[in-house]
Amino acid sequence: MGEAGALVLFGITGDLARKMLLPALYRLSADGRLDLPIIGVAKTDLDLHGLREHAREACGGVRDAAFEQLAGNLRLVTGDYRDPATFKALREETAGKGFLVHYLAVPPSLFSPVAEGLAAEGLNRDARLVVEKPFGEDLQSARELNGELLRHFDEDHVRRVDHFLGKEPVEDLMVFRFANTLLEPIWNRSHIRSVQITMAEDFDVRDRGAFYDANGTIRDVVQNHLLQLLAILAMDPPPSTDARAQLDEKWRVLRAVQAIDPADVVRGQYDGYLGTDGVRAGSTTETYVALRAYIDNWRWAGVPWCIRSGKGLPTTDLEIVAELHRPPVTMFGVDGAPDSPNLIRFRLQPDAGVTFDLLVKEPGRQHARPVPVSVDFTKVLGPMQAAYERILTDAVSGDPRRFARFDLVEESWRIVQPVLDLPETPLPYAKGSWGPEPAAQIAPGGWHEISTTFD
Ligand code: BG6
Repeated sequence: MGEAGALVLFGITGDLARKMLLPALYRLSADGRLDLPIIGVAKTDLDLHGLREHAREACGGVRDAAFEQLAGNLRLVTGDYRDPATFKALREETAGKGFLVHYLAVPPSLFSPVAEGLAAEGLNRDARLVVEKPFGEDLQSARELNGELLRHFDEDHVRRVDHFLGKEPVEDLMVFRFANTLLEPIWNRSHIRSVQITMAEDFDVRDRGAFYDANGTIRDVVQNHLLQLLAILAMDPPPSTDARAQLDEKWRVLRAVQAIDPADVVRGQYDGYLGTDGVRAGSTTETYVALRAYIDNWRWAGVPWCIRSGKGLPTTDLEIVAELHRPPVTMFGVDGAPDSPNLIRFRLQPDAGVTFDLLVKEPGRQHARPVPVSVDFTKVLGPMQAAYERILTDAVSGDPRRFARFDLVEESWRIVQPVLDLPETPLPYAKGSWGPEPAAQIAPGGWHEISTTFD
């Protein structure tokens, strides 16, 4: 599995490339971490000069040596992704460049045609295929799509992007769990009462109406990003540090997650969603979901894993709260109420860090009060790399650990399959609220408030 001789970027003039990939490539060039030919493929009127200017704009109008290096590495092949001539031209452009990484930043309906076009020109040999999400729209279609890709590339040469796996704070969860003896012994059903994962976004579907309406929250972020988080939080320690051992453990825990029961789900749709461009009249697509999952293994049996996510919520935050069991006897409760539970909060976005809610004695009284003990990772450790910088680095180097192996993707679809396309109309909620009221019942004892910031 070689280091790449060239990166072929399908969809180089598209949205994802403009917002994420080109800026990440620029930062990697600036840090001296990526210097190789980048062959853009697109159906576009731009010529190479135009592409370079487009890239400059995507990188914030920069005029420096790093950008000149990136621009010097850019090439362009134009044409339709279903036209064999496009792939002939690509073969000529890539001749003699060695191992190729084909990065497909294009709609999923084009994954198979592109893989086929590449194979027709022999560009699937000595090459890796990297595909963006979504990977399928349910269990069946994911299997079909995978079958189509595996006709031309073997599993070892396919990488499925889940950009959450490129986020440093996500990876930090693993370090936190497995490098700190303080945590690992309590990380199980004997000590943890429930786990809550909240991914809130304070913006609506914006100009992505058509895409979003065909997907909804469960497909858009639960099946992939949030179940990946659950896997990292719930898995057993891998027997070694190699990528395969980690992926195997994630798979093992996902295998143990029960398929979601529709009775454990509340779906919502924010008021005004139906008026969005691209949204179907009377659409029952959810823009909010709260659900409860259970893991049938010795570590987690009976512990509810509560996940909620939505657009149009009060904040943009990604936070995990593990609630520990209360002590067996209340000794310091206020007016006979039980002591508050200890909480461990992993904050992943917008800032990253951890907070322990510990109980301390209130001065002058025999009562205990929770106080937060927090660390802001950025303050202590400095800035982090952006997710796409790490994804692109791994796409080029071939390290599979920050990608979604197909058996994990398959398990994730199995888990959400019973709650995809539920016939009931989602419950309405006002933008800026925390979703429909019945969602409160999904988390036993209610959802913990999100910690707003470290300051
Ligand atoms: C994408 C979803 O995969 O992730 C979006 O399609 C969502 O709807 C986004 O907003 C969130 O990613 P990030 O990295 O901005 O938190």
